[in-house]
Amino acid sequence: MNIIEAMNERRSVRTFNGESISDSQKSALLTAIEDSFSPFGGNVSIRLKNFDLKAGYTPGTYGTIKGASDFFLVAFGNDDASALPAGFRFEQVVLQAWQLGLGSCWIAATFKGSDFEHGELWRDGESLRIVCPVGIAAKPGIRERLTRFTFGSKNRKPFEKLFFYSDFTREVSPGNRFAEALEMMRLAPSSVNSQPWRALVVGDTVHFYYTPKSNLSLIDCGIGLCHFYEDERFHGHAGRFSKTDNPPAPPHGWKYLISYTS
Ligand SMILES: Cc1cc2nc3c(=O)[nH]c(=O)nc-3n(C[C@H](O)[C@H](O)[C@H](O)COP(=O)(O)O)c2cc1C
Repeated sequence: MNIIEAMNERRSVRTFNGESISDSQKSALLTAIEDSFSPFGGNVSIRLKNFDLKAGYTPGTYGTIKGASDFFLVAFGNDDASALPAGFRFEQVVLQAWQLGLGSCWIAATFKGSDFEHGELWRDGESLRIVCPVGIAAKPGIRERLTRFTFGSKNRKPFEKLFFYSDFTREVSPGNRFAEALEMMRLAPSSVNSQPWRALVVGDTVHFYYTPKSNLSLIDCGIGLCHFYEDERFHGHAGRFSKTDNPPAPPHGWKYLISYTS
């Protein structure tokens, strides 16, 4: 499965088969962590931890997650400069897991930190902000189906409501050079499926904006930008991200994030 297929197919998995991942899967995931990168700098610590379900220990997720023994722990600073890289880097690992046949689910709210942290030491300024089960998906139970229904998880906002061309009134045509990468961004996961990302294409530049919804919005944007960039990378485009001093003034309530030029 290539990365485009993974971005198209991925969904959050909250019900697992109760088995630990294999040694080879573990090793591939550790490589994915090692290889993950951020074009925005920033420190992020990502670890993979096994919990012995069979010995009766289940770390607390308030009933959200069932049957998972393996969890990623993601720690970073509680500031804007850390949130974007955290989203961008960890989503690379999530997509690699999906390509290995493993489901996962970003968890920022529904977990009990002390259950996961036993003995973990983080760099100065970092704390555990995200946990993420990883393993073989099992048939979703009523709780998972209800969660997905509550968040409207299978729905996404229409492309033409998120992404614009030249000014904020014109649509990005399907043949536009960035249309596929923006579609990958559209499909990305976000907290409570909030989809805060917005973009304006002007020539060979894409200006990214977001509509702040919560303190997780910049993490969400990092995830969306990861999908955009993975598509670019897949097609051999080597663009770069930078902040522009005078980005086009966005509609009310949007905040400028970053621009991408290739
Ligand atoms: C940053 C972030 C935090 C999330 N936190 C939670 C959470 O605490 N509990 C939960 O059940 N799902 C959580 N999710 C999963 C989202 O609800 C899910 O990604 C969204 O509904 C879209 O569904 P999909 O991932 O199946 O496409 C989180 C997702 C992201 C990106």
